[in-house]
Amino acid sequence: MEVKFTNKIKKDPKILLGLLITDESAPLFKEILPKPFYKAIDWDSELLKKEDTLQHITDSEKILGIGLGKLETLTYEKLRKSLHTLFTRANALKCSQVTVFFPGAATFSTPNKLARVLGEMPFLSNYQYLKYFSNANEKKNTVEKVSYFMDGNKSLSSEDATTGFLEGIAIGKATCTARDLVNDPPNQLTATTLATIATQLGKTSGFSVEVLEKTKIEALKMGGLLSVNRGSIQPPTFSILEWKPKNPVNTQPIILVGKGVTFDTGGLSLKPTPNSMDSMKCDMAGAATVIATLSACAEIKIPLHIIGLVPATDNRPGEDAYTPNDVICMYNQTTVEVLNTDAEGRLILADALAYAKQYNPKLVIDLATLTGAAVVAVGVQGIAMMTNASKNIKEALLKAGEESYERLVELPLWDEYKELIKSDIADIKNIGGPYAGAITAGKFLEHFTSYPWVHLDIAGPAYLNAQDNYRPKNGTGTGVRLLMQFLLDHATEPRNN
Ligand code: BES
Ligand code: ZN
Ligand code: ZN
Repeated sequence: MEVKFTNKIKKDPKILLGLLITDESAPLFKEILPKPFYKAIDWDSELLKKEDTLQHITDSEKILGIGLGKLETLTYEKLRKSLHTLFTRANALKCSQVTVFFPGAATFSTPNKLARVLGEMPFLSNYQYLKYFSNANEKKNTVEKVSYFMDGNKSLSSEDATTGFLEGIAIGKATCTARDLVNDPPNQLTATTLATIATQLGKTSGFSVEVLEKTKIEALKMGGLLSVNRGSIQPPTFSILEWKPKNPVNTQPIILVGKGVTFDTGGLSLKPTPNSMDSMKCDMAGAATVIATLSACAEIKIPLHIIGLVPATDNRPGEDAYTPNDVICMYNQTTVEVLNTDAEGRLILADALAYAKQYNPKLVIDLATLTGAAVVAVGVQGIAMMTNASKNIKEALLKAGEESYERLVELPLWDEYKELIKSDIADIKNIGGPYAGAITAGKFLEHFTSYPWVHLDIAGPAYLNAQDNYRPKNGTGTGVRLLMQFLLDHATEPRNN
């Protein structure tokens, strides 16, 4: 996919011209659009001023007008959805190129963020996972080039916009990388292959990767990761990813931790709910997001020191599988009574969170498809956030959530919940009671943190059973855009430093 700014609008049956129309743009079209195009349009400007109206203006000229409503109330998300409509229509019309004309861009107060949306959308929208189809070529989308028409549009020709555009392209690509990793089937994507792919990405994008193998993990006594791995034939891995630019804005690193359960059968406490195992290749979505985010950070050379930690294994009921009633000793020496082997994510994350301490982190963010309770609470539209971090960090994350539209809902970590994970015979147990399941999982993780920390339970939005606009069915790459928006703001906003 080639995505760029352009100063030309060509007339060609293979190119779909998309006009993004707001209440203020009709006169601009007359001024700027080359005459043959302008004439071809049957301007029902009243109709087009309305939001969500879509007018396939002429067949022969392949022009599509999309009404965005009032420019004043236009949001990044509305723009994303309109672009998705446009790219989808272009594929349906078998066009190989799309030219987008959006005169409203000129008045945006944040050209960098606007340009980020323009850069990311062709990738988000055009994504397909075709690896295992024999006739992949026939199924492939036709759109290969997207150009945004500038025509002296000052806002888009600013340095800010150029930077934002390149950031958007990197973020869009990284989101697709995360989607691919989640969609890869578990017989292909083991803990070892996940680490290998991270290593390869590190080489191409320019971040470093160290993979701790099973013997090293044993030597470190990571009891959580090793216990979960016992029922598996595949060895576990623990990958350490690092992006460290010269003169980073932060002296203490920001650490991203991702749950890498390549398949979750539930272990001996085999998943009890019918069909609940069907999508469990998604249980490494947190890991996918961390790996992809590191690659985007390196691609755009973000001026922040960032470390990614990815504990990975599958969770199976093999003959040596860990067992309900086991007491295990974690990396930080905490003893844990296992009462349900399906609550495995918190065990492997706990070791990673304790391991993070040695870096003296400024902030640690973990991402995990951790609980069904988070899905029950917020569904596929939101990420459940729990945190002990400062108000500034929290607000910055919430804002990044709104802007990327990977929205966060905060759940509390009140002291009283601690009672629910007390064990009769060990320091803590790995499940709480019947209620507040997302929170007791968060409380469990909190036990292993000793620094500012944010927990993001992405169990709902990480994997969809049906397409939702530009979020495809199956792996969505949730969290990459949220983290990148947060990190980019963090790199530039002195308030957060
Ligand atoms: N991987 C699951 C959580 C999950 C559920 C992810 C739905 C994506 C969609 C996790 O390991 C799990 O099984 N959690 C249990 C915990 C329980 C046994 C305390 C759950 O939420 O049921
Ligand atoms: Zn589980
Ligand atoms: Zn799991």
